[in-house]
Amino acid sequence: MTLGNADMKFTSHVNLPADAREDLIDVLNVNLANAVDLHWQVKQAHWNIRGKHFISRHQLFDSLADHLRTQADAMAERAGTLGGYAEGTIRLAAKNSQLPEYDLQAVDGDAHLSALVDRFARYAASIRDGIQRSEALEDPVTVDLLTQTLGVVELDLWFLESHLQGDARTTANRSRRDDVQLPGNA
Ligand SMILES: [Fe+2]
Repeated sequence: MTLGNADMKFTSHVNLPADAREDLIDVLNVNLANAVDLHWQVKQAHWNIRGKHFISRHQLFDSLADHLRTQADAMAERAGTLGGYAEGTIRLAAKNSQLPEYDLQAVDGDAHLSALVDRFARYAASIRDGIQRSEALEDPVTVDLLTQTLGVVELDLWFLESHLQGDARTTANRSRRDDVQLPGNA
């Protein structure tokens, strides 16, 4: 996939073939776009969440946004190191992001959590794909950067989805007490 302008814009003396650097820059720009997009989706959740557990979720979302800013910065700078042009503006991110738009109907906490679990899972999958592509391109530095990033993203995904699993267990327990069959409940 090629993103807009030519990815290779600057001189780089990194000892990798130019075509490999070009593909790596593409990997990094895709994930940069996803990170910028997701950062602002998480802020959207931070600003618009209401309901029970407001303050803990409001604060959790802000910490996730901080992680995404750091991740975007690292990926943009790796693209630059490889001679690439980092495509990091809001408009470029909107054009290049693989994520769907945020759930603009979400109000209560669980709706925001569901939307964010979905977006974080997609972001994680994109980074995992980027790791495999970077391995094939034989760049251990980008592999390492993306692997460390994925560890943080999956930890953050766990923080998000644990809220929903806790609620599901509560629902299942109440259901058993009330002798009500839950669809799909093993
Ligand atoms: Fe804030």
